[in-house]
Amino acid sequence: MGVMADPYLDGTFRWWHLARPSPELLAANDVGWLGRAGVVADLGCGLGTEIGYLAGRGWRCVGVDLSAAAVSAAAASHPGARFARADVLCLPIADAAADLLVDRGCFHCRRWPARASDNEQAGDDDHHRRARILAP
Ligand SMILES: C[S@@+](CC[C@H](N)C(=O)[O-])C[C@H]1O[C@@H](n2cnc3c(N)ncnc32)[C@H](O)[C@@H]1O
Repeated sequence: MGVMADPYLDGTFRWWHLARPSPELLAANDVGWLGRAGVVADLGCGLGTEIGYLAGRGWRCVGVDLSAAAVSAAAASHPGARFARADVLCLPIADAAADLLVDRGCFHCRRWPARASDNEQAGDDDHHRRARILAP
């Protein structure tokens, strides 16, 4: 398998990047669904738009993305949040450290096993990866 291109270096990110927080996040905030501000992790944070919005609302924020270019740009744009270049399949976040997870377009577009019969296991593994870092 070849090395994957970084979508933040070749311009591909323009297909999904939003300069403003997503309508879904704004709506969730408006109806109080996000709960009281605590620690939030954005998995596959890209340029950090969602996490930047939450940082401005009192959340302690960490954004994680595989792209070094994205993480570097996000950190420059959103000094109120922390960012880490990491794989969401091996999150550098302690157990039960997060009160809220945000994922706009990361887990659902990740590569799945070639064999359909392995997909259920992969889905369970992803669930456990996320559940591990969420506070009970
Ligand atoms: C569709 S983009 C969405 C980015 C961002 N959430 C947004 O709303 O603009 C998916 C993001 O997930 C990141 N990504 C994909 N696979 C990843 C992985 N295994 N670990 C961490 N980040 C990953 C990509 O670099 C990209 O930034």
